[in-house]
Amino acid sequence: MARAQGETRIPLFDIRIEEEDAEAVAEVLRSGWLSAGPRTEAFEREFAAHLGCKQVIALSSGTAALHLACLAAGVGKGDEVIVPSHTFVATVNAVLTAARRPSSLTSSGRTTSTSTRIASSRRSPSAPAR
Ligand SMILES: Cc1ncc(COP(=O)(O)O)c(C=O)c1O
Repeated sequence: MARAQGETRIPLFDIRIEEEDAEAVAEVLRSGWLSAGPRTEAFEREFAAHLGCKQVIALSSGTAALHLACLAAGVGKGDEVIVPSHTFVATVNAVLTAARRPSSLTSSGRTTSTSTRIASSRRSPSAPAR
């Protein structure tokens, strides 16, 4: 079957917002706690219990989480961080902020995914392994 120009075969996202979700957001807005309030603390506690870990820290964005992950992994200036070539720009931005040296990993062509085996084979000989 022919597709219309601009029509994608695989949608990038499929966001569904239910009335319950909109009401939960409205409740937070009415509370005046727009950052680290009781809802955020409850979310962190429940998500930590779900993951079975001691602590979860909610952040303002995926970009902030990626940057913090780089810092938590000990990535510093000059470190090479291999990122998949098929990703969102935030992945590279986080690495640029933490290490200033992202290295794009081109997929093999069979899939757009990558693996630690492929990443290890593309690592610069001088780069320390983390
Ligand atoms: C794969 C991926 N990583 C990171 C991000 C960044 O998230 P945020 O927009 O919350 O900073 C996005 C955003 O769409 C994303 O799709």
